[in-house]
Amino acid sequence: MDKLQITGGKRLNGDIPISGAKNAALPILCAGLLTAGDLVLSNVPRLHDVRTMLKLLAQTGLKVSQGEGKDSENVTLNGAAIGSLEAPYELVKTMRASILVLGPMLARFGEAKVSLPGGCAIGSRPVDQHIKGLRAMGAEITIEGGYIHAKCPRLQGARILTDMITVTGTENLLMAATLAQGETILENAAREPEVTDLANMLVAMGAKIEGIGTDRLVIQGVDALHGTEHAVISDRIEAATFLCAVAATGGDIRITRTRTDIFDVALDKLREMGLNLSVEGDAIRARMDGRPRPVSFRTTEYPGFPTDMQAQFMAVNIVADGPSRVTETIFENRFMHVQEMNRLGAQISIEGNTAFMRGADRLVGAPVMATDLRASASLVIAGLAAEGTTLVDRIYHLDRGYDRMEDKLSAVGADIVRIK
Ligand code: EPZ
Repeated sequence: MDKLQITGGKRLNGDIPISGAKNAALPILCAGLLTAGDLVLSNVPRLHDVRTMLKLLAQTGLKVSQGEGKDSENVTLNGAAIGSLEAPYELVKTMRASILVLGPMLARFGEAKVSLPGGCAIGSRPVDQHIKGLRAMGAEITIEGGYIHAKCPRLQGARILTDMITVTGTENLLMAATLAQGETILENAAREPEVTDLANMLVAMGAKIEGIGTDRLVIQGVDALHGTEHAVISDRIEAATFLCAVAATGGDIRITRTRTDIFDVALDKLREMGLNLSVEGDAIRARMDGRPRPVSFRTTEYPGFPTDMQAQFMAVNIVADGPSRVTETIFENRFMHVQEMNRLGAQISIEGNTAFMRGADRLVGAPVMATDLRASASLVIAGLAAEGTTLVDRIYHLDRGYDRMEDKLSAVGADIVRIK
C-alpha cells in the first residue's frame, strides 16, 4: 500500500494546473451509453475512479479509446455496440458512482441490471431516490441478490420531486429523461456545476433541457441523441484543496486551468482566512503571509459551502489563530479525519455533526491513516503545515480523486514523496 511521506514547514511557490472535475467526468462518461455516436471528450482527469468507470463501461460493450500518458485526458466513447446491460458487483463495490449507468442504460435499452453500491466510509449513501424517480417514469424495478433489476420498454416523462437534493440522483434521472417519451420535470434538482456541465453536454448531444443551473429541470424526451465534443469542467474541489494548502503553509501560488465562478463561497471563506486572492484569466493567484484566521461554516448543497471541501478547510482551521466550528449537514459520518488530525496535535472535539476546533500553535508530524478521499487530502494539507515528517497511509483513497497530487505539490516546493 502506497504512503505519502511529507516533511512540513515549506512555503509553496509556483503554478499548480487543475485537472478536469472527477464529479463531472463520471456522469459524462456514462452519457456515452445514451448514443450510438462518438462522444469525444477532453480534459478527462487521470484518476483511479475514471479508470474504474471506463473499465465498467467497456464491459458493457461501449467502445473506449483513450490516449496514452498526458494524452489520456482525451477519451472517445462510442455506444453503437452495447452487448451487456449489467454493472457487476466487483466493480460497483469499489465505486458508488457506478450507479450512474442505471439511468442511461435503462433509457436507451429498456433494461439494466446494476449492483447496489455498498455504503462507504462517509455514510450509508442509499440510492432510493434514483429508484423512486425511475419508477415514476414507468420502470419496473426489483431488488434481489444485491442487484437492481430495472425494466421498461420506453420510459415516460413524469414530474419527480426527490425527498432531498441528490447530485447523482439528479444526474441519473436527467440522463434517463433525455430519451423518455414526453416531458419530465425534476423538482429539487441539484445545482452543482458538475450537474450543469453534464446538462450542457447533453444539450449538445441533442437533448432538450430547460432550467439548467436551477433546481427545476424540464426535459422534453427525444428519440435519439447524437455524439458531440466536450471538455470536462475544471475541478473546483481540487482547486480549493490547493488553496487550503497554501493557506496552511504560506506562500505565493497560481492555480491555473481553473474556473473562478463556480466556488464563490469557498473563495470568500479563504479570503476570510487571510488569503490574498486575485483572478488572472483562468488562473487564481493566492498569496498567504502569517497565520491563517479561523473560519466557521456549515456544509450545504450548492451554491452553499461544499461538503467535499469540509475536511480541507478544517486542516487550515487547526493551525489558525483562534477557535472555529464546522457543521456537516450532508453526510452522517464525514469527520473521520478528526482523530487523525488530533494525532498531529490538533485540538478538535465533536458534538453530533459539529466539530469544534482550537487553533494549535504548532502541529508535529506523525504517521496517520487516510479513511476516505477528502479526508486523505486534508491529512496531506496538515502534514504540509506540521513540523517534521508525516506519513499518510492508505493513499489509494487519495488516488481515487486527485491526479498526481504529490507531483503538483512537489513542483511548488513541498517536500512530499510517494513510498511504494
Ligand atoms: C455526490 O455524491 C458526489 N459524488 C460526492 O462527492 C459529494 O460529496 C455529494 O454528491 C454531495 O455533494 C459524485 O458526484 C460522483 P448525494 P452523491 O446523492 O450523489 C442522501 C467526493 O468526495 N441520499 O447528493 O452520492 C445521501 O445519503 C464525493 O468527490 C439519499 O438518502 O451524494 C446524502 O446524505 C464524496 N438517497 C445526501 O442525500 C438517495 O437516493 C446527498 O447525497 C440519494 C442521496
